[in-house]
Amino acid sequence: MRFSLSVAVVAFASLVSGQTVLTGAFDCLTEGVYTLCQNQWGASAGVGSQNSTLFSTSGNEISWATNWTWANNPNNVKTYANILHNTAKGMQLSQITTAPTAWTWTYLEESQGIRADVSYDIWFGEAQSGTPATSASSYEIMIWLSGLGGIQPVGHQIVSDLSIAGQTWNLWNGPNANWQVFSFVVSSGEIRDFSADLNDFFQYLIENQGVASTQFLQAIQTGTEPFVGSADLFIESFSAEVNV
Ligand SMILES: *[C@@H]1O[C@H](CO)[C@@H](O)[C@H](O)[C@H]1NC(C)=O
Ligand SMILES: *[C@@H]1O[C@H](CO)[C@@H](O)[C@H](O)[C@H]1NC(C)=O
Repeated sequence: MRFSLSVAVVAFASLVSGQTVLTGAFDCLTEGVYTLCQNQWGASAGVGSQNSTLFSTSGNEISWATNWTWANNPNNVKTYANILHNTAKGMQLSQITTAPTAWTWTYLEESQGIRADVSYDIWFGEAQSGTPATSASSYEIMIWLSGLGGIQPVGHQIVSDLSIAGQTWNLWNGPNANWQVFSFVVSSGEIRDFSADLNDFFQYLIENQGVASTQFLQAIQTGTEPFVGSADLFIESFSAEVNV
């Protein structure tokens, strides 16, 4: 994400046939170890709407969805509909032994030519805790499982065809506000059934990109950044944990 509001927003939720649907621009909902947020931080650059639904949580697993439609300013991100893991954070990178994650998702509906990514957004900083995209942030690590419509991450591509976690990535790097962004972008197609050890990405950054192992993992978020088009994104299952 380029910028996001750091204020906590009290959940406003409406119950529609048993499911909790978030409709407000900054609605959030916490259930189990996850918080689902609409985060329509860039919506003023567009015209449209987005609604997100939390279906279920169980341990480290969550199932959710977001339906969005956005027009205007095709180069601007409109939102980051996302989930935040509320407890998988606060450890120094050097302490992490494994960080297994799995993510199965699909577009139930997808208009022609959508511009959107489906991505992890992981935050490192010098302090043990810090809100993403604030003065506490040193690094933003994105992992793009999908990037449709010719969109690009922050900065420039610095490495191509990197093999990590059994997949091939192009690595992008650049500054954003007071932090550095590293974006691992799937080198071709999409990964709709992903499983990996996030620590493989972290170790790569420590060994090859100068990230200090004294940095703390401050947040793991995953979700979607829509630019333009319409889509119904269904996360059948997502999980992540961090072991020390
Ligand atoms: C979101 O919900 C509002 C209010 O119910 C509705 O008008 C709008 O069409 C919905 N947007 C999408 C993308 O489903
Ligand atoms: C999202 O779209 C799907 C169909 O693709 C529909 O079943 C679901 O009810 C929609 N959810 C919301 C919140 O509009």
